[in-house]
Amino acid sequence: MNLQELGKHTADEFRKAYGRDPQWIAAAPGRVNVIGEHTDYNEGFVFPMAIERYTVLAAGPAAAGSSQIQIRDGAGAPPALIDLSKPLKPAPKGTWYNYPMGVIAGFIDRGIRLPAFDAVLTSTVPMGGGLSSSAALEVSTATLLEAMTGRVLDPVEKALLCQKAEHEYAGMPCGIMDQFISVMGRENHILLLDCRSRETQLVPMNDSSVALLITNTNVKHELTGGEYAKRRAQCEEAARGLGVKSLREADARMLEQNRAKLSDLAYRRAKHVIGEIERTLHAAEGVRASNWTTVGQLMYASHASLRDDYEVSCPELDAVVDIAGKLGLPGGVYGCRMTGGGFGGCTVALVQAGKVDSISKVVASEYEKRTGIKPTLFVSRPAAGATVLKT
Ligand code: GLA
Repeated sequence: MNLQELGKHTADEFRKAYGRDPQWIAAAPGRVNVIGEHTDYNEGFVFPMAIERYTVLAAGPAAAGSSQIQIRDGAGAPPALIDLSKPLKPAPKGTWYNYPMGVIAGFIDRGIRLPAFDAVLTSTVPMGGGLSSSAALEVSTATLLEAMTGRVLDPVEKALLCQKAEHEYAGMPCGIMDQFISVMGRENHILLLDCRSRETQLVPMNDSSVALLITNTNVKHELTGGEYAKRRAQCEEAARGLGVKSLREADARMLEQNRAKLSDLAYRRAKHVIGEIERTLHAAEGVRASNWTTVGQLMYASHASLRDDYEVSCPELDAVVDIAGKLGLPGGVYGCRMTGGGFGGCTVALVQAGKVDSISKVVASEYEKRTGIKPTLFVSRPAAGATVLKT
């Protein structure tokens, strides 16, 4: 379903649920990170693109006199009921509507008066698939609230408000990558984001001879589980050991010279981050120059580092990367890596566009043979960021 169709579908769902037309419809995309993993909270570089998968919210004013926000999710989970006449507080961990509630709280904190409203949510971003379903939900909520109130936030402020919602309402200490790309994605561009200065550069990606093939291992990725927070703490420990504010300030020489000061674990975590920041900058140059072989090699190197030094991969992600690697250049694969936080979720492969079908067939059948799980594969062009479909 393309975005327009999904918008129409969401409007239909709204009519079914509430028996009237929605007044506002807003959408925000998921993302795939091409390279630069676990670098955002170390003030490094990331290189994500928005994908043609969206979370869409359709809404209309609530009945007169009501102070309640109601959001139904298309999948039939219990609706979110948020009473605007009371102070907001997070629902128990794992409750899906903590994400929109955190964003609503962020608007209220800024003194923006929100109307009571009814809403319906639909999404083509697989939940918990490592493609930023949570950022898509946060950013679509923020975009809806902008449409409703006419208060359009600065894009950086909007992304930070959504990140804060995830920290404080969902309990996930994420970096800034996912919310930034969901807000700032641009069609046919990959976003090089400097997470220290928050400067962005849009790198064109419109060579039709290559494609980005995403494979969902269909192993659930669970980032609120604590491993993510542990990695953050280990990076902070490494930065302290090296005497720098963040690992962005360190380089490979500094790391080797100070190796004795670090635990083996902190050393390996830092090694990944420092190497990954360099790989990300090289990969962005590679995309600019359409040097696909180089970009592919950097993707494989990124995966190996995430698997061996950062230890956030899992056997299923490794299986996809191994299968893609065995196809290699003769089979049309330039490179492949896990994408997102890890522990399940998706891989991203840079492939020859003409070979997408043959590659997909091999990856799907080999992966199922090895793991007993059916994967889901799809291709996406870099998509635009959040948008208002109706206002
Ligand atoms: C998750 C977080 C991001 C980022 C990635 C790893 O997606 O939300 O901020 O840290 O993991 O690169």
